[in-house]
Amino acid sequence: MPPIPGSVSHHLAEAARRLQEGSDSARLDAELMLCHVLRCSRAWLFAHADDPLEPGAAGEFHRLLRRRLQGEPIAHILGRRGFWTLDLAVDASTLIPRPETELLVEAALARIGEGTHLRVLDLGTGTAAVALAIASERPRAEIVAVEQSPGAIDLARRNVDASGLRNVALRQGSWYAPVAGERFSVIVSNPPYIASGDPHLDHGDVRFEPRSALVAGVDGLDDIRVIVAGAAAHLEPGGWLMLEHGHDQGEAVRTLMATAGMGEVGSRQDLAGHERVSFGRLSPSPRHSGTG
Ligand SMILES: C[S@@+](CC[C@H](N)C(=O)[O-])C[C@H]1O[C@@H](n2cnc3c(N)ncnc32)[C@H](O)[C@@H]1O
Repeated sequence: MPPIPGSVSHHLAEAARRLQEGSDSARLDAELMLCHVLRCSRAWLFAHADDPLEPGAAGEFHRLLRRRLQGEPIAHILGRRGFWTLDLAVDASTLIPRPETELLVEAALARIGEGTHLRVLDLGTGTAAVALAIASERPRAEIVAVEQSPGAIDLARRNVDASGLRNVALRQGSWYAPVAGERFSVIVSNPPYIASGDPHLDHGDVRFEPRSALVAGVDGLDDIRVIVAGAAAHLEPGGWLMLEHGHDQGEAVRTLMATAGMGEVGSRQDLAGHERVSFGRLSPSPRHSGTG
């Protein structure tokens, strides 16, 4: 049976049809936007499919639909994105957290024993996604999260406050500058790692994300070089550095870590079999760790 004109299901079907070309999740996007307008669950939409959509809600739904048709990420339209077990506020000041970054969280958790009271540094925290995910799983660990962008640090603060977690401290500044003289047992980072000429920058969600969160020089490795170079001076002896990177950067990142004197260097693959996270360990002997 065709949907009743003006009903919830009619508006959804029409929106999904219009979104079909630009989105591979057209129906889901339409449902999420209508849920956002009506402040209801997706289950409610199914149960009330034949209800008329009142004009105010229809107008608001169509305003959101227009933004989505212009390519704006669904996470920006809703102002939220799920990551790990968290529901995070997002905006245009930083990266929308990606599911693949959960691999970085998993790799870090594997090095942070439950119940251990150790210090973790998250560089380029953005929404604070990685810092909060680790903090939620390891309540006795102390996480310091650094971010350069003033807009992103405000966003991170909102997320930290909303989480109720007390073991994340935010600091604004560039990479290691806000933690001069401090050492950590684990350093994690999902830094910018896209090459400046990468054609993917002209497609999809990344068009709406700041270049400062995405691009790192001609080969995409400029920020990773800085982070690897500073790691020895900020890791405890035997501490771990763990970095997310592009699917084709694993070998380059391992080489940078090995050249910097790190041991036990390796990478982890994502579900698609791409190297996504690389790690290295500072020598457990104090005389091999850097100074400063
Ligand atoms: C790829 S995003 C990652 C955001 C978040 N950690 C995540 O995984 O969703 C990189 C972040 O690094 C920040 N950033 C870029 N340059 C920085 C710098 N020099 N110092 C500190 N943060 C920086 C960006 O503003 C951005 O929030």
